[in-house]
Order: sequence, then structure tokens, then C-alpha cells
Amino acid sequence: MNELAIICVDDDSTILSSLEMEIQEVVGNTYLIELAENGEEALEIYEELSSAGHEIALVISDYIMPNMKGDELLKHIHLHSPKTLKIMLTGQADIEAVSHAIQYANLYRYISKPWQPADLKLTVKEALNTYLQNKKIAEYTDELERTNQALIKLNQDKNEFLGIAAHDLKNPLSAIQGYAEMLIEDCDDMPKSEIIEVSHLILSSSRQMFELVRNLLDVNRIESGKINAKLSCVDILPTVRILVECYSTRAKPKNISLQLHQQNNQYDAFVDKNTVHQILDNLLSNAVKYSPYGKHINIRIQQSEKMVRCEIQDEGKGLSTADQQKLFSKFTRLTPKPTGKEHSTGLGLFIVKKLVEAMNGKVWCESELGRGTSFFVAFPVCNQT
Ligand SMILES: Nc1ncnc2c1ncn2[C@@H]1O[C@H](COP(=O)(O)OP(=O)(O)O)[C@@H](O)[C@H]1O
Ligand SMILES: [Mg+2]
Repeated sequence: MNELAIICVDDDSTILSSLEMEIQEVVGNTYLIELAENGEEALEIYEELSSAGHEIALVISDYIMPNMKGDELLKHIHLHSPKTLKIMLTGQADIEAVSHAIQYANLYRYISKPWQPADLKLTVKEALNTYLQNKKIAEYTDELERTNQALIKLNQDKNEFLGIAAHDLKNPLSAIQGYAEMLIEDCDDMPKSEIIEVSHLILSSSRQMFELVRNLLDVNRIESGKINAKLSCVDILPTVRILVECYSTRAKPKNISLQLHQQNNQYDAFVDKNTVHQILDNLLSNAVKYSPYGKHINIRIQQSEKMVRCEIQDEGKGLSTADQQKLFSKFTRLTPKPTGKEHSTGLGLFIVKKLVEAMNGKVWCESELGRGTSFFVAFPVCNQT
């Protein structure tokens, strides 16, 4: 099917056939050429072609025709299809009609009757070239516009990211400044225990900053496509064990106990060992961070045909459906707050999701308000890949 079409309109059938012949010589079979003997018929053809998916590149119309004149016809076409180029065939005395057509139909050229075939052919050739060029320009402009919108959005995201990061760094930094000033001004009058206490506060604020900077660097690494996961067949049980042990110690001040449930002695997955460590570390730290004192955390590791799955189940406050939908975005600090003055950057789960996906795994959450939360992470087994 010829997608591009040309409509010729003249009430004189001899002129119409010579128009068709001359145009055919210029365009060959690359354009569909349709003929109409008056304006109304031309509009019908225009409608039919358009609804059949053709693009009407050019309409060449006589000016003096019964009922609808050439300039009226071109005005109608222009209203529906401003990109279609229009040429009018006129007698010597039709200057007013030409200016009307230029004004209302964006007339491309007019050709005086009788014309020289060579002139007509050249004009048609130029018109079609112009049409194709305009089309290309319009496509490039659309593409530029889309790219520009995407860049504007990226820039807004970056600004927002920077704004939040700067704000989150400012709080611990001003705390450090305040404590340091306190030490400088009052250290002579302070007992050693108080100096140590203030130093601990400085340490805690700087740890908070350090964690945020580390998370920011991770996000930056992820967003610039530099996740460096070297996948190999790894038994993830030792990693899980080490982390459970480590977090059991860390959770003692909150009187929270962790229990690992496993059936096998080995869980081989096709993963990057350090990345698995980072992922489970994040999920376990959340479970401890958002659990009230005295609760239990269960870690279940299971193997199915295709995946090795690890569940971290806590007895915390749980997450509402609305909160669950926001979980894995950047800087999401949701309704549950740390129960033991821990720090929160709102970046942990965003990083977790990206890292899991980089290893062809899945992470998801099941939670009920008031009854606790389970985070699941699943990695492909070894023989999969
Ligand atoms: N186990 C959980 N129980 C309840 N809420 C959680 C749990 N894990 C995460 N959340 C909520 O999701 C938010 C985002 O978590 P995360 O991305 O790890 O950031 P962070 O731990 O630094 O706040 C937390 O602020 C918290 O509100
Ligand atoms: Mg976290």
C-alpha cells in the first residue's frame, strides 16, 4: 500500500488526465494518485484516504470549478491537514483567489494555466521533497521534545535527591558542631564521664553521616549502571548465619531474639556473595530497627526448584497497604519509625531492590498492620543460568 497520496482536482477531465500523467512521471509508483472532478468529490476522497491510513502529501487543485472553488477546497483541507502541501492552478486574473488561498490555506505555490509540463514537474518534485523534509523535521522535533522532557524530569529528580541528601547531612553535622563547641568551651568544668558521653554523641552523628554517604554512593553507583555483581554459584547459608549472629548481638539491648530456620545444610544460589550480604544486612537491620523491644525475628531459608528464598519475619507494627506501595522508592521513611533511636535514611530498600534485580532475583513484602512484616528475597538456583 502507498502510504503517501496526491489528490488532483480539476473539472476538466482532459486537464486532469494530463496532470496525472505528468505527476506520474515524477513520482512513479511511490505515491498513490487520486483524481477528483470537483471540490466535494475531492473532500470525499480525502476522507476515504485518511481513514484508510494514507497521508495526503499534496493536493493540486484548479481554482475555477462549479460550486466549491479551489481556494475554498484548499482551505478545508488545510483545516484538517495543515501539513498537506497545496498547489493551485489559476488563470492570469485570479490573483485575489491566490492571496486568499495563501492566507487561509497556506498555499505552497500557484501554477498559471496553461503550464509548461517541465515547470509543473519541477514544482511537484520540490513540493514532495519539502513535504518529506517537513515530516522528518517534525519527527526530530517530537523526539527532541521527548528527550528534553525526560532530561527535565531527570534534572528535577537529581535536584530533589541533592536537596534531601543535603538536608539529611545537615542535621548530624550541626549536632557534631554543637557538641564540639560544647567540649571546647566547657571541657575544663566537665567531668570525664560527660566528656565521654558527648564524644559518643559526636561519634553517633558521624556514623549517621557515614551511613548516609555510603547509601548515597550506592544509589549513585546503581543509577549510573555500575552495579558490579559477579555471579557465581555460592552457598548463601554461611552468609545468613554470620548475619544472624551479628544481629543477635546487636539486638540484645532491645531484648529482641533472632532465630534461623533451615532444613538443608547448603543453599546454593547463582549470586554475588558480597551483594547477598549487603541485601540481607539491610533487611535484618530493618527488622531489628523497626521491631519493638522484646519481640522475635524469624529467618527462614528455603529451596525450591528454581529459587533459594529467604524470609525475614518480624513482629513489628506492620505496614499499611499505602506504605507497602512506597517501600522500594528513594528516601521513603514511612509510618514505622526506629524503635531504639537508630538512624533512618530511607534508601536501604531502594538499594536492596536494585541489587536483587541485578542478580535476577526478587524481593517483596507481606505485612499486616499490627501483626508484623515479612520481607522475602529470592535468588535463582545455580543450574538455572
Ligand atoms: N521491617 C519493617 N517493619 C516496618 N517498617 C519497615 C520495615 N522495613 C522498612 N520499613 C519502613 O520502610 C522505610 C524504608 O526503609 P529503608 O529503605 O530500609 O530505609 P531506612 O531503614 O533507612 O529508613 C522505613 O523508614 C520504615 O518506615
Ligand atoms: Mg533500612
